Amino acid sequence: MAKLKSEITKAIADRLSIIEALLPQLEKEVLALQETSNTRKTKTNVFDLVTEADLHSEKIITSAIQKHFSDDAIVAEEGTNSDVQNSESFTWVIDPIDGTVNYANRLHHWGISVGVVYQNKPVGGIVSAPALNLRYRAIQGQGATKNGVPIKVSDKSKLSQGVVVTGFPYDRAIRAEHLTKALANFLKVVGGMRRYGAASIDFCSIADGTIIGYYEMQLKPWDMAAGLVIAEEAGAKITDFNGNPVNLFESHGVVVANPKIHTIMLPLTAPMLDAIAVTKR
Ligand code: IPD
Ligand code: CA
Ligand code: CA
Repeated sequence: MAKLKSEITKAIADRLSIIEALLPQLEKEVLALQETSNTRKTKTNVFDLVTEADLHSEKIITSAIQKHFSDDAIVAEEGTNSDVQNSESFTWVIDPIDGTVNYANRLHHWGISVGVVYQNKPVGGIVSAPALNLRYRAIQGQGATKNGVPIKVSDKSKLSQGVVVTGFPYDRAIRAEHLTKALANFLKVVGGMRRYGAASIDFCSIADGTIIGYYEMQLKPWDMAAGLVIAEEAGAKITDFNGNPVNLFESHGVVVANPKIHTIMLPLTAPMLDAIAVTKR
């Protein structure tokens, strides 16, 4: 991807450094809470949860940002939002625990996702998956890494050669029919089909080449911000279900894969457009 001016690259690196400094302690705390805490509440419906760890992680991350970069704007899932409107400043887009349903059920597939956005575009990101011992990082124009080692997307060209991942929105009940139509299209041709339950890690798993395709509807900016730059820097093509570029704050879906697989996948995701069109009655 296009390189940024060196002072912007440095500003992003400085920002990611404060997250890297706090992560070891925060990772320990949320791992411990997963074993000990049973506090959970529901949000938009019974499937949509928030735990003590979501709130704790958001507080630790946003306090550090406010201390070190008080001019930056913040958009965080559990409600820390600032109104700083300065086009010269950065916006942090944070999912304090991505994969909360997995987390609350003591599964390992969940992450902490921190994205840095500049002029409406994700330009830096970290996704940490402590229970999997994985840490992904990218800055626009500088490549992506997994545990410090450079990564790139898979070079496979057929869906039968690998695993495709999807996810389902919390209001999946009213969209089930269309979601399963898309799923059926893939089940006929893929090597394997999975639903892991943490969008940020799904993007990263495209980036490190372990899965070959990912699609999902109705993701929020915090599900995508860090993952988008990590996947893009590793060579992924990312569009919405119409094949248009993804806008972090406006797009309704993502199709993520290497360019060859993306071309094959996109038509199979067509029923997702109908799933999006379903509105609540
Ligand atoms: C969810 C996860 C899941 C995806 C959902 C997201 P949360 O985020 O990323 O994989 O399918 O659409 O909302 O609620 O666990 O932060
Ligand atoms: Ca999320
Ligand atoms: Ca979350």
